[in-house]
Amino acid sequence: MSQFSHLFPSRLFSREAGSSTGPNRNRAFLYMSLIVFVLLLTYQLVLSRESFQSSISKWKLGPSATNSNHGVHSTGNSTTSASDRPSGQASQEQPTPSARPRQKELVIAAMSHDNMSWVEENVPDWHANIYRADVAPGKASLTVPVNKGNEAMVFLTHIIDRYDSLPDVSLFLHGGRYQWHNDNPLYAYSSSMTDSVISINHLQLNHVQETGYANLRCTWIIGCPAELEPARYLRDRPQDPEHPTAVEFPDRFMELFPDEDLPDVVGAACCSQFAVSRDRIRSRRKEDYSRARQFLIDTSLDSQTSGRIMEYVWHIMFGKPAQYCPDTRQCYCQTYGYCNMTDEDLRNQWVWRGLKLPDGWPDSEENTKKVQKRRGLPSSTYWMSQ
Ligand SMILES: *[C@@H]1O[C@H](CO)[C@@H](O)[C@H](O)[C@H]1NC(C)=O
Ligand SMILES: *[C@@H]1O[C@H](CO)[C@@H](O)[C@H](O)[C@H]1NC(C)=O
Ligand SMILES: *[C@@H]1O[C@H](CO)[C@@H](O)[C@H](O)[C@H]1NC(C)=O
Repeated sequence: MSQFSHLFPSRLFSREAGSSTGPNRNRAFLYMSLIVFVLLLTYQLVLSRESFQSSISKWKLGPSATNSNHGVHSTGNSTTSASDRPSGQASQEQPTPSARPRQKELVIAAMSHDNMSWVEENVPDWHANIYRADVAPGKASLTVPVNKGNEAMVFLTHIIDRYDSLPDVSLFLHGGRYQWHNDNPLYAYSSSMTDSVISINHLQLNHVQETGYANLRCTWIIGCPAELEPARYLRDRPQDPEHPTAVEFPDRFMELFPDEDLPDVVGAACCSQFAVSRDRIRSRRKEDYSRARQFLIDTSLDSQTSGRIMEYVWHIMFGKPAQYCPDTRQCYCQTYGYCNMTDEDLRNQWVWRGLKLPDGWPDSEENTKKVQKRRGLPSSTYWMSQ
């Protein structure tokens, strides 16, 4: 069950070899001075940023956070939305250290060939960081040092680069708009390939702020209640070529979390899509994220395995117990505001139906409505938000 690919080709781009060879004392001295200067400057910026931040009050979630189709809209002028920017520059803007942090941002692991216009078209009120994992550094506004570890490389790179300018809520996603990893109600009536736009729009940001980390999947299918048994695998070293993640997990976990006990059981909803608050990300040191990324860079494991190890590490990284399988009904209510689900709704919510989009699958809001009508769906169910 856990062998599904995350559909990333593992082409590998290495960093350009930029280091100079041969001893050159003058140059070394110049570099040293530059480094000291940059360190001093950074330190100064961090200090002034912290005093600035403590003086602004925390933004409040309005009633729209729980009911609106689009979640929270920004109110201040310093919080720009994707629609304010000329297209093509969307991802380059970084908040300056003294600017007020954004409320919400998307962090999306995409490839150069992915058509990502769905983001700007459908969720323009989110600042979108669209990484192109297969593009060499310097050749796209957002990319990664090495294309290894699937989406984990993107997510860690983002956290490391933006550690000091994180928004209140970061939502980490794969690039496709329609994908089986999503878990939302359109699924129950159609296909495995549910719409990321629904998940983004219905996500309850105030819940993410409260709980720190929220997996975008509530269903237990794949990952819960007990995907891995690290302690037993470490002790018994069973032959399990079908499950390389389970075999590799114990040693890699100890590498990633040198100060923590190896868990007996790891269980968490699969698929590496989740929302995290700034405070929760920063409850770990930046070095911890750098160490995890270095593991991905250095490892000889294939991206599938190393990426999947990270898939079962995120919730632990973000402060949840190793076995973290919240009650499904409560999870849908808290994560998406679907609080009226019947037992049948819950049963229908996630059933494996294969990886293909069905005929007539909607590719626009208008089509979604048409398909709902054709399939005789009730005009208002627990999940319709109009
Ligand atoms: C936002 O900008 C507009 C026009 O530039 C201005 O009138 C308004 O007062 C500003 N609002 C805030 C909260 O700064
Ligand atoms: C990208 O997707 C949009 C719909 O989101 C579509 O209108 C557009 O034609 C697509 N672009 C390409 C190059 O396929
Ligand atoms: C949920 O169900 C209750 C009781 O049936 C009803 O009063 C309430 O309006 C429903 N809420 C939504 C959001 O549909």
